[in-house]
Amino acid sequence: MSLLVINGPNLNLLGTREPGIYGTLTLDQIKQQVELKAEQAGVECDFFQSNAEHEIVDKIQLAKTQGVEFIVINPAAFTHTSVAIRDALAAINIPFIEIHLSNPHSREPFRKHSYVSDLAVGIIAGFGADSYLMACDMAVKQLTQR
Ligand code: DQA
Repeated sequence: MSLLVINGPNLNLLGTREPGIYGTLTLDQIKQQVELKAEQAGVECDFFQSNAEHEIVDKIQLAKTQGVEFIVINPAAFTHTSVAIRDALAAINIPFIEIHLSNPHSREPFRKHSYVSDLAVGIIAGFGADSYLMACDMAVKQLTQR
């Protein structure tokens, strides 16, 4: 079983980036927790971050050819802007969960719209790093229950 976790722009700054909103864990610390959980579940996990829209689109396209079975994605700011990432996710037809550390619906109005939510199996938002861990649990459950 194979899981791909995708992180969008500025998530490389976690730990120091607006800690009151995003928490104090670094992306590397979150990655370690996710990888441990995946390993315990016997799932192969690729954890990816990019600040560039085209690199995320390329990674999503590659997922299909690499046999990725499930995606967990925090598109970060691209959630609210990227038709390209939406189209890539729609094109590959791999189930995915959209996640956010914060709850975008409790923030500025421009964060209320997501270009990917309607394509997602589900959405987990507002639980900080636990959003990632919960999404991994759900991804494993989805993969094993097929
Ligand atoms: C985010 C929420 C987005 O609105 C924001 O642009 C981010 C992070 C989150 O995880 O809470 O960069 O996706």
